[in-house]
Amino acid sequence: MTIFVTGGAGFIGSNFIFHILKKYPDYRVVCLDKLTYAGNLSTLASVTGNKNFRFVKIDICDRQSVFNLFKEEKPDIVVNFAAESHVDRSIADPEIFLKTNIIGTATLMDACREYGIKRFHQVSTDEVYGDLPLDRPDLFFTENTPIHTSSPYSSSKAAADLLALAYYRTYGLPVTVSRCSNNYGPYHFPEKLIPLMIANALNDKPLPVYGTGENVRDWLYVEDHCKAIDLIIHKGRAGEVYNVGGHNEMRNIDIVKLICKELGKPESLITYVSDRKGHDLRYAIDPTKIHAELGWLPETKFADGIKKTVKWYLENRKWWEDIISGEYKNYYEKMYGKA
Ligand code: NAD
Ligand code: TYD
Repeated sequence: MTIFVTGGAGFIGSNFIFHILKKYPDYRVVCLDKLTYAGNLSTLASVTGNKNFRFVKIDICDRQSVFNLFKEEKPDIVVNFAAESHVDRSIADPEIFLKTNIIGTATLMDACREYGIKRFHQVSTDEVYGDLPLDRPDLFFTENTPIHTSSPYSSSKAAADLLALAYYRTYGLPVTVSRCSNNYGPYHFPEKLIPLMIANALNDKPLPVYGTGENVRDWLYVEDHCKAIDLIIHKGRAGEVYNVGGHNEMRNIDIVKLICKELGKPESLITYVSDRKGHDLRYAIDPTKIHAELGWLPETKFADGIKKTVKWYLENRKWWEDIISGEYKNYYEKMYGKA
């Protein structure tokens, strides 16, 4: 079995590679990654010596190179994590989101059509459903909730989901889509809420909370997400969407306060800043379908997951300090030369 993992030098993709190589020692894993600012080869250091692992620096929009790699490796399964993933960057400059998240996904699926595939899995987000009101805690996203996006990021992910489902219907490509809530855990890039707050708190820098801090996200420990994708690619039904997450809802401000407490830092570091444009209020997943069909439920409680995550950032300071200082760019240039 050969699995292509696109975006495997990023946060969730790298955790997925570790999960697959550990659980299926006879699988071959090929990581396809462009190494954008968010991709970090040092994250994959522990597996680069594994004979079942190969890293290929590639842009998923580069049709010729993608087709050549499919011809050479003949993957059985493709799991597409590669994306521009940060909402704030999409608000500042949408274009690359449209290229990578939409054209890139279509390019991969065209290669799947050309060379044949057992499964193409699109890793998507609950943000395609838009948001829920703060005063209706009884409402949750199901797979039937209408697509209703707020940001250029979520719009580009929604477009990719629709394309994937269209390739299933039109070409019979065996596609699955998972829509997951906010992940957290090791190797999370320090521009996102939890790692940014941990890094800033450790450096005694202000903790910038958008708006009132009352926005709610449904947090999922990254290993639980990887287990869900593992189940979907092996046992999920082609043409189906699976929501992943559930019942770990937290207000941003409560997370930031918890991080201060875990690190022994004063809440006076918290600074309220201008709100994000179009800021989604609340995300909350109903995981009934994936639980009923595949037996998946989140295993890690937020109280335990956040402790593990804080500990990881304390023990792996070099990883995120190199990123913040731009050191990882030098590392990349040493490995591959200038892009
Ligand atoms: P990330 O930003 O940490 O990693 C993205 C990776 O994709 C990086 O390694 C980057 O180099 C690579 N990449 C970007 N453009 C590329 C291109 N054109 N060709 C090849 N590689 C490219 O993202 P993440 O947080 O790990 O998210 C992974 C996927 O999961 C994304 O599709 C995202 O939309 C989705 N998702 C993320 C979350 C979350 O909470 N982080 C939640 C739900 C869904
Ligand atoms: P983020 O980690 O960017 O994920 P997403 O926007 O995909 O949910 O942000 C999570 C929440 O935290 C979101 O409501 C925005 C908020 N936030 C802050 O308040 N301050 C910050 O510095 C960041 C990065 C996010």
